[in-house]
Amino acid sequence: TPRTAPQVARTAEELASLRPELGRLALVPTMGALHNGHRRLIAAAREQAAADTVLVSIFVNPLQFGPNEDFDRYPRDLSADLDVCAEEGVSAVFAPTTEVMYPGEQIVAVHPGRMGQVLEGEFRPGFFDGVLTVVAKLFHLVRPDTAVFGQKDAQQLALVRRMVRDLCMPVSIVAAPTERDPDGLATSSRNAYLDANERKSALALSQALLAGADASVTGPVGILSAARSVLDRAASADPPVVVDYLALVDPQTFTEVPGDYRGEAVLAVAARVGSTRLIDNVPLTL
Ligand code: PAJ
Repeated sequence: TPRTAPQVARTAEELASLRPELGRLALVPTMGALHNGHRRLIAAAREQAAADTVLVSIFVNPLQFGPNEDFDRYPRDLSADLDVCAEEGVSAVFAPTTEVMYPGEQIVAVHPGRMGQVLEGEFRPGFFDGVLTVVAKLFHLVRPDTAVFGQKDAQQLALVRRMVRDLCMPVSIVAAPTERDPDGLATSSRNAYLDANERKSALALSQALLAGADASVTGPVGILSAARSVLDRAASADPPVVVDYLALVDPQTFTEVPGDYRGEAVLAVAARVGSTRLIDNVPLTL
């Protein structure tokens, strides 16, 4: 049952006028189509002792979509999202239009450097420039004390942490674990694109990560080959799983770890099923 409806700001001016009453604020940046993964982030934000209130931003950021990506078909339903925010005890929602966020050409932007060029950045050129630029703008508009990001997008999380550190942004970053559907598929707004057969094939991503995690005592080579064998089988499923990358990386730098590596790592995968591109990862201790 919905609780008190959040206050909604559509412009920078509306946001500025309600900001003082929000006190110490935790921001949850989203592109809307809110699901259980987002709910988990909101819950983590609510539980921050260092924050009094939670603000959710909802903005499908054109700057982070490539010309052949799903910007136009990305799901948008503000009234359903506001219901979720009310249920989750969110105090305020910032839902700007494109004109509010990008009133003119974005000439000055945030460039992630080499961390933004590997893995997701290799397959989605300019993606992390778009993400970091909009996140920096949201930080400046909202002025949160804390901002919560999901482990689901591990490279995004690492890059936001790095941006905050390298550009001295006065916000503390909190990570929330990946929410999964009962069948193991990482919860995602893009799962709505999958038909029943595609969804069955897509389970290979989480199953590959699980196989890799089960092999973690064998080290990087064993982890990668256990995960790879699940993906190889899925390559001949109907419909097939087409892998963009499978990599075992350092969680801070997103560079691949050497064969004798010990310590924290992230096993990350990206693959296409039909016309849908999916990513998933699992943090491991080697
Ligand atoms: P979006 O895909 O809407 O995700 C918003 C936040 O929810 C991100 O921090 C993401 O990691 C987290 N999230 C998504 N699915 C999750 C899951 N299954 N479990 C846990 N967390 C999950 O990521 C973006 O939007 C955008 O790039 C954004 C940061 C808003 C910038 O435009």
